[in-house]
Amino acid sequence: TDDKILVGPTLTFSGNPMTAPWQEVVRIDTEGAVLLQGNRIAKVDKAVILLDRYPEAEAISYRADHLICPGFVDAHAHYPQTAIIASWGKRLIDWLNDYTFPEEMRLQNPDYARIIADRYLDLTLAHGTTTVTSYCTIHPHSVDALFEAAARRNQRIVAGKTCMDRNAPEGLRDTAQSAYDDSKALIDRWHGKGRATYAITPRFSPTSTPEQLSALGALWAENPDCLMQTHLSEQTDEIAWVRSLYPEARDYLDTYEAHGLIGDRALYGHAIHLEPREIDRIAECGAALVHCPTSNTFIGSGLFDMAGLRARGIPIGLATDTGGGSSFSMLRTMAAAYEIGQLRDTPLHAAELMWLATAGSARTLHLEDRIGSLAEGLEADLVVLDLASTPAIAQRAGEAKDHWEMVFATIMMGDDRAVRDVWINGERAGERSEAKDAI
Ligand code: GUN
Ligand code: FE
Repeated sequence: TDDKILVGPTLTFSGNPMTAPWQEVVRIDTEGAVLLQGNRIAKVDKAVILLDRYPEAEAISYRADHLICPGFVDAHAHYPQTAIIASWGKRLIDWLNDYTFPEEMRLQNPDYARIIADRYLDLTLAHGTTTVTSYCTIHPHSVDALFEAAARRNQRIVAGKTCMDRNAPEGLRDTAQSAYDDSKALIDRWHGKGRATYAITPRFSPTSTPEQLSALGALWAENPDCLMQTHLSEQTDEIAWVRSLYPEARDYLDTYEAHGLIGDRALYGHAIHLEPREIDRIAECGAALVHCPTSNTFIGSGLFDMAGLRARGIPIGLATDTGGGSSFSMLRTMAAAYEIGQLRDTPLHAAELMWLATAGSARTLHLEDRIGSLAEGLEADLVVLDLASTPAIAQRAGEAKDHWEMVFATIMMGDDRAVRDVWINGERAGERSEAKDAI
């Protein structure tokens, strides 16, 4: 038997803490354990029960100040921007033109695309992220590079070819027809292969003609089990630009809606400056919003209304948005979400933050039956956090009155040193030190 029992405090969910009090649906069992069979989570129970029932299984014990969690799920990122993370001083449109587009142009070299895809997955894995949802570049080989790199690591992955046919430099534009054809070929090649999900990816309304948005809307209608990801209402000058480019549209969301780019498998990144009609429409059709807190502060976009939007029952995921985001780490991203909550006078609890970074993001990807929780039958993607990973955190944790205070200290101050182990599809992805060497 290659059954394994991971022994240590476990984090489990029995419901959605965005709609129910977290105390009722999120739980840390300090005497817990997880049974892995093959690539699956077979059972989550008390350690004494699992050790007694499965005496043949290999037991792997983690300290009482560790926490066995679902692997982190990043619901919106741009792997091609790995090299320009932390570029100084610009707001969205200038940041795209000055830093992002020149870098994305470099991925026209397939070897460079492969190097960046590997580097990005190594970095995110070292931070405990087991699934990423990424934009690629307009080059189809940039999509192949990421799906191939993920397949080599047995990682679940969501990605798509970024489509742009205007307001982008020469060399970084496709057409309505080629965006359709190339995306269709990539869907046929990758969607549902192994652990891959394809997301149809118009970058955002300003860089697509209405013809391109229509072509991608048609492609989505022909492939309704694919996801569709794009950006929505991130900065006020962006919204004004959208208004001038689409004078007939009622609002920003309408530019997507009018072209068939709305539905319960739509993921809209940022969604900060929404009109009441947009919120009503999103709630009505079950589309998901993705909160990108480090990006929203770094590029100066604004403060996402988590409290207001969750109250409307809208599925919300959490994401780094690298390289607009300033960190590859979902711990740092949770910390930024906490800080934005504080600025809006509605702080999130550690239990809510952990849910958003795992099950919440998985739900926005329609993958909640596969990843995002420690639950029977799900794929065994886990991260084991050391809640005493540095002297300062250890002292704070040592004086905490419960496990949640320890978790919160690690969310606020932890980095990749807090990532003790990562398990992917039932296999250990390497000791922390090995993962670090790979960077
Ligand atoms: N809007 C359109 N493209 C991008 C991008 O690459 N990053 C961010 N943060 N916003 C965008
Ligand atoms: Fe983005």
